[in-house]
Amino acid sequence: MKTPAHAMPILGTPRLILREFSRDDVDALARVLSDTETMRFYPAPLDCTGVENWIARNRRRYANNGHGLWAMVLKANGELIGDCGLTIQDVDGANEIEIGYHVRRDLWGQGLATEAARACRDFGFARLPVDRLVSIIRPENLPSRRVAEKNGMTVWKEVVRVGFPHVVYSIRKDQTDSP
Ligand SMILES: CC(C)(COP(=O)(O)OP(=O)(O)OC[C@H]1O[C@@H](n2cnc3c(N)ncnc32)[C@H](O)[C@@H]1OP(=O)(O)O)[C@@H](O)C(=O)NCCC(=O)NCCS
Repeated sequence: MKTPAHAMPILGTPRLILREFSRDDVDALARVLSDTETMRFYPAPLDCTGVENWIARNRRRYANNGHGLWAMVLKANGELIGDCGLTIQDVDGANEIEIGYHVRRDLWGQGLATEAARACRDFGFARLPVDRLVSIIRPENLPSRRVAEKNGMTVWKEVVRVGFPHVVYSIRKDQTDSP
């Protein structure tokens, strides 16, 4: 049977596939984004409609920009366990490409976000006309800051977004081995 277009891998890593979200992913993604602890730095955990909107927003990004947050799927069992990808974000009035990530809580601490984020970094520098990638993180979100650091990023600046201070991590293309 032919693989549907949305299920084609965008990126592969030793343990993960990143592919586009489809509307069928709502239940699996809800196990990530409806979790109170996972969403503690967001206004609230997402309800079912919130997860549907999240998927729809990223599907619009694929169509408009050629990238967005992709579904993070474990190769070992085919389970959708999070998201990671590239989105356009405003930083001080300029568009920057952000690497973002969310992992299902029972799988934290295994290096999965870092593995996916590095693949997105390499994809961004290889395929997009950018010299810089960023990750925008609440200062108290230490695991996310650590992932940015393991992705080769350093603190670039601090900004206020939606009323909260955020640290903007960045990496330039000439700071990586990316092609
Ligand atoms: C951020 C997140 C994606 C990390 O996923 P993960 O797969 O566990 O990440 P990794 O295992 O690759 O790396 C996590 C690192 O943070 C470290 N860490 C975890 N908790 C920590 C804490 N309280 N203080 C400091 N470091 C911490 C881990 O030890 C690890 O670093 P190490 O490899 O040097 O030991 C996950 O915690 C998550 O989904 N958080 C909620 C969503 C979120 O905040 N996303 C980012 C929005 S900006």
